[in-house]
This record gives sequence, C-alpha cells and structure tokens, in this order.
Amino acid sequence: VRAVFLGTGTSVGKTHAVVRLARCAADQLPGTPILCLKPIESGIALEAPGGPPGSSDAAMLACACAIATAPALHPLFRYEQPLSPYAASRQSGKTANLKEIQRWIAQAERASACGEAPLWSLIETAGGVFSPLALRVTNLDLARALEPARWILVAPNCLGVLHAATAACLAMRGAARAPDVLLLTSAERDASSDTNADLLRELDLARAVIELRDGDDAAIDALISELVRAD
Ligand SMILES: Nc1ncnc2c1ncn2[C@@H]1O[C@H](COP(=O)(O)OP(=O)(O)OP(=O)(O)O)[C@@H](O)[C@H]1O
Ligand SMILES: [Mg+2]
Repeated sequence: VRAVFLGTGTSVGKTHAVVRLARCAADQLPGTPILCLKPIESGIALEAPGGPPGSSDAAMLACACAIATAPALHPLFRYEQPLSPYAASRQSGKTANLKEIQRWIAQAERASACGEAPLWSLIETAGGVFSPLALRVTNLDLARALEPARWILVAPNCLGVLHAATAACLAMRGAARAPDVLLLTSAERDASSDTNADLLRELDLARAVIELRDGDDAAIDALISELVRAD
C-alpha cells in the first residue's frame, strides 16, 4: 500500500491524519511494516545534521513508523525558511528533484520491506496539492511520479471547504486524475462542519469522502478499507 497525502492548502491536518492512520494501522495489522515519510519540508532548523529536529513533520512521521524505519536523512529536501518549498528552495539554491525523491522513497521502502506482510508507505507532501516545488513542478507532479498509489486529498472541515475541495479536485482531474479519498479533518469546526461531508459526497469529487473526527476511529477504519481495497 502506498498513499500520497495531498492538501487543499497548508496546515490542513495532513501530518495529524498520517500519524493517526499509522497508529491505527499498526494496531489493526500487527506485523505490517508502516513507513511514514516527508520528502520535502520547509520551516525547520538546519542545526541538527541529518536527522529531523523534534517538532518537524519528519520527526513526527519517523515516530509514527512501525517495524519500518524512516531514513536517517529525513526530510530529503529540508529548508530552514518557513516559506513554500519553491520559495525556500530559491533562497537556499537547493531545488527539490522528483527523480531524487522517487529514488529516496523506493530505497526507504526496500529497506523497510519485511516478511510476507505488504509494506504500508504513507507519504506527506509539503503545502497544498498545487504548491510549486520547482519551476512548473507541483505536488501533483510528485504524486504522479509516485504512481501507483492512493491519493488522499486532506481538507479542513470548516467553512470554505466546498470551494477549496471542488477547486482542487477539478484541477487535479483536469491535470491528472481525481483523488481516491477526500479526507476532512476537524481541527476547526464551525456551523458548516456537520453538513460538509454529505454535500461533498453529492458533488462526487472523489471515490470516497471520509470525515475524520477526534476520538472516533470508525473514520480511520473506513480509510484503511479504502487503502486496501482492490480496484
Ligand atoms: N483533529 C485535530 N485536532 C486538533 N488539532 C489538530 C487536528 N488536526 C490538526 N490539528 C492541528 O492543526 C495544525 C495543522 O495540522 P497539521 O500539522 O497536521 O497540518 P499539515 O497539513 O500537516 O500542515 P503542513 O502543511 O505544515 O504540513 C497543527 O497544529 C495540528 O496539531
Ligand atoms: Mg504537515
């Protein structure tokens, strides 16, 4: 199972969702190696050579791995400036490269494969699905480079999500394909939160719309089912 976590924007709950999924999958599928990776991350200090500083997404994802171990160099492309990956890379002069990311992920997956159980590889992108990584290269291109994979589009379950999810899904469909799962996260809830999931299902933007609620693991079970389901 390989799943790429994309967002309708930054700070939409991608890391939170990957960590919860990894923990539940480790409980439910004992013996399954679970690898959580963040190939590109900006806004993290450079002083710790190689390994990620504690509060970074890469560090949280490394902690959420089970049986599998994240690479020592994680993220592969790290930027100190709290800017979009492309803006940060222009300042540091080190541009993210899809081929290098593909190789880094494939190597981490090979190193984590163990026994008969299929590896779970959960990959978090940086920023939103159309955030640029380099000139004319976005996170959607990274997702395409990582096919075959499930694409999970993460969106916050609050006012504005109907537009944000529709815009992202239509643009994804036009440029490549729709996400497999639209995952609503609940850091901020408001008057729209009780109805957003049903409205988004009616709009038929993705094969599944799953609403993640705190303290409710049924949604994670549904997400696990979507990830393992045969096409
Ligand atoms: N369900 C939740 N309950 C409480 N807090 C949450 C929840 N989901 C996310 N958050 C908080 O919202 C913030 C953004 O979430 P998160 O870091 O997961 O987003 P992200 O999409 O990974 O962001 P980035 O684009 O920086 O990688 C974090 O402070 C996180 O702790
Ligand atoms: Mg994150």
